[in-house]
Amino acid sequence: MTRAIERISRLEGVIKVPGDKSISHRALILGAMARGHQVIEGLSEAVDVATTADALRAMGCFVEVMPDGRTMVLPKVLRSEFSIDAGNSGTTARILAGVAAARATRCEITGDASLCRRPMLRVAEPLERMGARITLTNGGTLPAVVEGGALHGIEYETPLASAQVKSAILLAGLSADGTTTVIESTPSRDHTEIMLRAMGAALRRDGNRISVDGGTPIEGITLTVPGDFSSAAFFMVAALLVPGSQVMLPFTGINPRRIALMTVLQKMGGRVTIEGLHAGQLEPAGDIAVASSELQAIEIDDPATVASMIDEIPILAVAATQAQGRTVIHGAGELRHKESDRIEAMTTNLRALGATVEAFEDGFAIQGPTPLRGATVSSFGDHRVAMAMAVAGLIAEGTTHIENDEIVSISYPRFFMDLRALAR
Ligand code: S3P
Repeated sequence: MTRAIERISRLEGVIKVPGDKSISHRALILGAMARGHQVIEGLSEAVDVATTADALRAMGCFVEVMPDGRTMVLPKVLRSEFSIDAGNSGTTARILAGVAAARATRCEITGDASLCRRPMLRVAEPLERMGARITLTNGGTLPAVVEGGALHGIEYETPLASAQVKSAILLAGLSADGTTTVIESTPSRDHTEIMLRAMGAALRRDGNRISVDGGTPIEGITLTVPGDFSSAAFFMVAALLVPGSQVMLPFTGINPRRIALMTVLQKMGGRVTIEGLHAGQLEPAGDIAVASSELQAIEIDDPATVASMIDEIPILAVAATQAQGRTVIHGAGELRHKESDRIEAMTTNLRALGATVEAFEDGFAIQGPTPLRGATVSSFGDHRVAMAMAVAGLIAEGTTHIENDEIVSISYPRFFMDLRALAR
């Protein structure tokens, strides 16, 4: 469908965004590998997460929503042969490749057209070093066949920041002989490490080295998933850009490896603050308050900052169109390998609305502030591009049409409803 977005006068209210997608995937997958029950409150309603749940069922697991709304993953013996359709979800395909490498004699993994274009060699290569056999299409993409078995621990230095690759190796390492160590060139999100530790894995961190000993069982736990900072990001920028706005985003995940966008927006002059912290959670969570602000341009090229906001760069690009000066982002070449080529997608779409954008191989430069005017833009089959353009539409003159808007359900099915609830 094509969604029409009108300019609005202000945003006001409270939105509890859905559970964090990355943590939700891991809560399901680690639950499937654990002894005992895993009970998950606040699981994301994202289509990607449902894809992981279905994949786990195909592997022989019991995953069900209980009458109280929590999700239960029950003890199970994983099948040795199965097929997984990972849909649009890179996290499902890559992390489950690690599980399959350790536990399946034969597993086929496929996905939709977008996922079948995305790189898989980055995960196949270390898993093969551990002893699995992985056959990729055209030497680098899905569909893949994973022939797993007796793995041995390795020491692996990641050439790029990827929590999916790190997680696949660590999960394979859980059942490998000896110790598996991942050395991160740039720190990526650490949800897998946090959850594995809480579940009793023999996991150690020493600076950028993460090691896990094979053979120690993990135990199911009860956990609450905080709201997804990456979903909250769209309302944060919307509230900053639409004059007179005030928005509160309660119980949102604020893991330090995820919130660089907040720090960047603060440096740009944005009034974004954490008002309250929620104690006693597996992952840090807080209430984020945002008020509309005048923004200044910023330059970003630090790898750790880029890694900690990789999914938020499309919405930062929208903010940059309204900031005073030239915002420049380098070191973000990974954006070209997401659900769409996000450098290409955002450059094309923002230019269509009248923004001044220069694209680089590894980022872009955006000159602001520029008044935007409504136009018809594509979601490029990418949920984050669709939501970023919806926010741009709120400040554009006239109507902005977003084609294939239903793609938002990949991470945030209620996005347009929640946006409407805040509009005044
Ligand atoms: C994710 C890791 C990131 C991120 C993706 C989710 C995860 O990808 O972009 O949306 O849940 O581990 P990479 O591992 O490719 O950096």
